[in-house]
Amino acid sequence: MAKRPILILPDERLRAIAEPIDKIDDEVKQLAKDMLETMYDAPGIGLAAPQIGELRRIVVMDLAKEGETPEPIVMVNPEILKYSDETVVTEEGCLSIPELYYDVERPAEITVRYTDLDGKVTERDAGDRLAICIQHEIDHLDGVLYIDYLSRLKRDRVLKKFQKAERLSKKAS
Ligand code: NI
Repeated sequence: MAKRPILILPDERLRAIAEPIDKIDDEVKQLAKDMLETMYDAPGIGLAAPQIGELRRIVVMDLAKEGETPEPIVMVNPEILKYSDETVVTEEGCLSIPELYYDVERPAEITVRYTDLDGKVTERDAGDRLAICIQHEIDHLDGVLYIDYLSRLKRDRVLKKFQKAERLSKKAS
């Protein structure tokens, strides 16, 4: 396994549309392992492949709390089939937008279809934190970031902060 660097806003690869995965081979399994290791190390509760520069439709998550047994979830080609009308506001953060957290409103429950690492297509209903996490991670596969749901003012403030940080780090190197 290998930990991989996480791309940070405003890296353009975070805005790309990821490609479907047509076969679960050893390379995909290794990618899933790398993503889990990178996520646990960060630490975070979810990671999408574009966040490490792999423009492929795979996400990993683990919502087990500290001290609980890890519950890694890997979803290949995930697709949301159903959204509840009921919505919920949750504070979200993102490993590609470090150290910031904002409230986002999303559907409270979803039904998701995905392929697991054994190649089996699975459908599952999700609520609570898992439903929010799945929506956040699948957005990454379509180049969507949670700050896109904020007011324009807030989003622009976040973008400017990271654009400035990028300029400074380029100057320094
Ligand atoms: Ni994220």
